[in-house]
Amino acid sequence: MPPLSRLYIRAAFVNLLAGFTIGALLLAHKGVFIHPALWGWLPAHIELLLIGWIVQFIMGTAFWIAPRFWKAPRRGNETSAQAALLLINAGVWLVVLWSLFGGRIWMLASGRLLEVGAAIAFSLHLWQRVVPRNYQPPSA
Ligand code: HEM
Repeated sequence: MPPLSRLYIRAAFVNLLAGFTIGALLLAHKGVFIHPALWGWLPAHIELLLIGWIVQFIMGTAFWIAPRFWKAPRRGNETSAQAALLLINAGVWLVVLWSLFGGRIWMLASGRLLEVGAAIAFSLHLWQRVVPRNYQPPSA
């Protein structure tokens, strides 16, 4: 597994742990009162698990398994995939902080914009690798 995929997947597991912890607190709160602010954490639970875990795990796996070129660099230009890793995590955690601490609306909006940026950057990376089996890179 390439180093960048390992970073994606490890970051996804951090989000899984955080998301499950909040989910467990929410579930427990249904039976035993914990804190009145806890239901405000539901968006953080959803964000961590849907985007931070599921989407990020898929991105890390896609970077690993999408077609590689015959010659180095086997995965083409990785810069936009590296940028996407930073963008998705910055976006998820901005939305999580907004949810946990009742932040300003700009935090939510900026987090979402960073996530859109991650989607665009990652698509730009994968686009170059969507090629037929007999594809010859221009330099070959
Ligand atoms: C990948 C795993 C998970 C995903 C994608 C996920 C996603 C979601 C989503 C989208 C909601 C909002 C549902 C709605 O408003 O109708 C939700 C609510 C909730 N989740 Fe999760 N969840 C996951 C795992 C868990 C786990 C492991 C727990 C508990 C240990 C948990 C506990 C809860 C609770 C208590 C609610 C609130 C339910 C309610 O509105 O009464 N979730 N989750």
